[in-house]
Amino acid sequence: MKNVLVIGSTGQIGSELTMKLRKQINGATVVAGYIPGAEPKGVLKESGPSEQADVCNAAQLAQIVDKYRIDTIYNLAAILSATAEKKPLLAWDIQMNGLINILEIAREKGCAVFTPSSIGAFGPTTPHKSTPQDTVQRPTSMYGVTKVAVELLSDYYFHKYGVDTRSVRFPGLISYTTPPGGGTTDYAVEVFYSAVKGEEFVCPIAQGTYMDMMYMPDALRAAIEIMESDPSKLVHRNSFNIASMSFEPETLFAAIRREIPDLRTRYEVDPVRQSIADSWPDNMDDSCARKEWGWKPSYDLDGMVKDMISHLKK
Ligand code: SER
Repeated sequence: MKNVLVIGSTGQIGSELTMKLRKQINGATVVAGYIPGAEPKGVLKESGPSEQADVCNAAQLAQIVDKYRIDTIYNLAAILSATAEKKPLLAWDIQMNGLINILEIAREKGCAVFTPSSIGAFGPTTPHKSTPQDTVQRPTSMYGVTKVAVELLSDYYFHKYGVDTRSVRFPGLISYTTPPGGGTTDYAVEVFYSAVKGEEFVCPIAQGTYMDMMYMPDALRAAIEIMESDPSKLVHRNSFNIASMSFEPETLFAAIRREIPDLRTRYEVDPVRQSIADSWPDNMDDSCARKEWGWKPSYDLDGMVKDMISHLKK
């Protein structure tokens, strides 16, 4: 990994991944790809090149790959689960037509490709506890349908053309730099902002709903480590279960109250988000990732909560 294009560089994952790659990979050029209206600003803009990179514009992507001799593409353009239910065709366009554009360029020009999958790639008939790496994948959301197709298409390009595609199934990601938007797991980020501002938090997810979650530093490390891992050890590719913590809303609120005792919460369940959440795993089994490329999370619930609050207070 030397010359990298991050598509979606101003989003929740991209804004932090671009900066981490620029700091971590010696001598690398990391291009921040963006769409109009989401231009990089501040340190993201100043610390390296940026280019307009719309996944639906194959010619534009090919030009960037040529100009910077890109060898690795992080494809982080996505419409998250709750928004995808409102705009299913847009989600299909970005997630599927976007991916095929990227895979075709990768095939022609020899790039490796990381396109994240998600807990959303599972559905109501998947075993919810200790969800295995290889199991039933019949999601009922448009987001999930596209994520299963992303996994299959990425594996297809690897087996048929030898394109070096690899990825992980991200849990809900918790971070303080750039907020997510339109996801089912977003509540686990939003509650921190309410807690720090002293505002009441209205939770759209019901008590007792367990979902896998992960703190952003672990997620970024996973995205880099999988791409740097020894390919001869990979039995799987698209995509690996990775896990670090699983909780219901009440458990998260209790952990935040250990730091900010006056956090006020009430529930106003959003039926769309709730039905998506109910169809997802409670907790995934990530033993294949641990075995095949040495995945190991470093944050648990309390470690994440303390770190989140100390950064948001600043
Ligand atoms: N965080 C995503 C969502 O909630 C799932 O990967 O849509």
